[in-house]
This record gives sequence, C-alpha cells and structure tokens, in this order.
Amino acid sequence: MTKLKDNVYWVGARDWEVKQFHGNEYSTHRGTSYNAYLVMGEKNVLIDTVAASATPILLKRLKDHVDLCDIDYVIVNHAEPDHAGSLVTIMEQCTNAQIIASEKGVESITETFHKDWDIKTVGTGDELDIGGGEKLQFINATMLHWPDSMFTYMPGKNILFSNDAFGQHLSSWDIFNDEVDTCELQQEALKYYANILTPFSKMVTRKLDEIVEMNVPLDIIAPAHGIIWREDPMQIVNKYYEWAKGEGKDRVVIAYNTMYNATKEMAEYIGFGLEDAGVDYRLYNASSTDLNDLLTQIFESKGVIFGASTINNGPLVSLYPVIKEMQGLKYINKIGATFGSYGWSGESPKVLEELLEDAKVEIVQDNLNIKYRANEEELQQCIDFGKSFGEKVLKK
Ligand code: FEO
Repeated sequence: MTKLKDNVYWVGARDWEVKQFHGNEYSTHRGTSYNAYLVMGEKNVLIDTVAASATPILLKRLKDHVDLCDIDYVIVNHAEPDHAGSLVTIMEQCTNAQIIASEKGVESITETFHKDWDIKTVGTGDELDIGGGEKLQFINATMLHWPDSMFTYMPGKNILFSNDAFGQHLSSWDIFNDEVDTCELQQEALKYYANILTPFSKMVTRKLDEIVEMNVPLDIIAPAHGIIWREDPMQIVNKYYEWAKGEGKDRVVIAYNTMYNATKEMAEYIGFGLEDAGVDYRLYNASSTDLNDLLTQIFESKGVIFGASTINNGPLVSLYPVIKEMQGLKYINKIGATFGSYGWSGESPKVLEELLEDAKVEIVQDNLNIKYRANEEELQQCIDFGKSFGEKVLKK
C-alpha cells in the first residue's frame, strides 16, 4: 500500500497491458493506472474505484488496510467505467457504504448501473465531516471532462483528488512525480490534454481560476490515472493554463501520405525550406504514424502542412481522420498549407484545404500541386514553399 500522507493511501491498480483506451480511440503505449484512494479515520472513505478488470486488485489493497464493512463512503468523482467499473462489487461488499457523487454523477451512476443505491448528492462548497477534525470538500468540475466530473479536496492534508484532470496514461512501479522519468511524464500528460481535454479548454481555464482563487494550500494533486503530483504540484496546473491557450510552438508538422514516394519527396523538400527559414518541423507519414501521437505533435505546433497524392478525386484516406480529429478536438490558432502529386486530375490539395478550413485552420498560401514526380525546378518550388510557410509561422 502506498501512503500519500498519514491515513491517506493509494489503493489503485496498474494496467501494463492496455494499449488502447476509449475503445480504440486513444493509444496507451505505456499502459495506464486506475488510481483509487483510501482515507482512513473515524469514517473511512474510498475515493473512486477502478476498472472492472482490476476489481480484485482494489479489493486486495483495501482488505490489507480495512474491513470492507468499515468503509462508510465511496466518493465517485466520475462514473466512466474506467473509474466506476468495480462499483457494483464494491457496493455489494462494502455493505455499510454510501455513494457520494455530483448531481450529474447520480444520473450517470443510475443510468449505467440500474441499482437502487442511496446516493448522496454534493456540489461545489459542500463538505463531508469524516471525524477527528478531518473533512472533505467537493468542487464541481463539469466537462473536465464529463458532465459528472468532480474534484474532492482534503484540507489539512492539502490533497486535491482530481480524477481525470491532470492525469496521464502511464503505468509505473513508482507513483509520485519525483520518482519517475520527467520527460515521459510530461509527454504523457501533454498527450492526455491534447487528445481528451482540448475541446473544453475554456472551461479548463475557468476551473483553474476557481481553484487558484480558493487560495487553498496544495501539497498533492492525485489524479485517477498515472502519476501523482507531489513535487511542485502547481507545475501541472501551470501547464494546463499554457495548453488551454492553444498556442503552439514555432514548429510545423508536415503530415503526408504517398503512393510512389513522389509526395514524400515533396514533403522532404518542403522540410528543407522550413529549415532555411529557421523553423523546427516534424515530418510524418500519416498512414504509418499513431494517430494520437501525431495529434499531440500537431497540438504543439503553430503550423500544419498536409500533403497527399490524389486518388479517386481526393487525398489518400489516412489524412481524413487526422483532420476530423483536429476539428473534433477544437484545435485553435493554427495556420496551414497543402500540397500533393498527381497523375490525372489532382484534386487532393484543394480537398485538403477545404477540410483544414472546416477544422478552423487558416490557409495562408496557395497549395502546391505537382504532376507525377517533381523535377529539379519543382523541387526548388517545394523548398520555396516550405521557406515561405516557415516565415509566416515566425510572424504569427
Ligand atoms: Fe478516465 Fe473519463 O475516464
């Protein structure tokens, strides 16, 4: 059992094997963890549960510390199955426990589990006295990232149990941020934000403001996935402020797909032009790159250049989901341009432009469309295209 502070323990489960999350919507190369926490005292409180598959692990960790009949409350900060999947078993075995959830949480719990549970509804400002001078406070966190999401704060111990917010899909034997590889942690935290939270960035900023204005001491941020922020926990709050602005770096992502490498060659020469402009760039074949990793790179960049050969009067298909995801995730403040090679009709760059505009990307220069394979003069056009785009990125 892992101690956060006196009488506060991590009782979660590591999942090294999960490689896809939300169905197949989110790649989890480093696995994940389902973090649940036990607060012990005059009243014993379980904060969140775990995915159904990890229920035996949660039960074992709980029983190491407490008789299940002595658990008084189960706080459900969020009822998505990765956190509430073991709720039925927990409620069967913790026979004296009452569930606590937000108003929307009551709805999602009721309509997911169809059980006749007596659930206590709480919202921002409500407190739960757990005896011994200890209490828990609740903060609605609607749309961070579900309507039912809620934070639980423990004054005195100064711990914020933030559920999905500030989490990462990262499994590790060590659970505190001062014990793990900082680069991996930052990378997974960014990927999590870029692939889950960006549509709600305005609400993220408002919620962060609310928490900061509460002016409460914060020693630990304990999310429901991944690593617990113990050393300088405000670092992840400040990162969320930064990411919520949606301002990318002076960097460009070139995402392409190619049939016989003519478009790939164009992509490489466009990259040379970006280098000439002094702009950092990343180049990916969208058909062989993990979608969520690619989106993370796009989220971090001011510029996107999309290119594909033309087939069936449009671009090769792997570019479509990338742009659709950018649209759904509501990425902002990006400039873009398109290119491609063709043999017959050559619609790809134009279609890509239209798709990018639908995703709120500002197209800042004419597309570059080259028949068959570029000759020397056309390769120079690719370099000029990249240089011109890079200069626009630096001015943005
Ligand atoms: Fe980790 Fe919204 O579930």
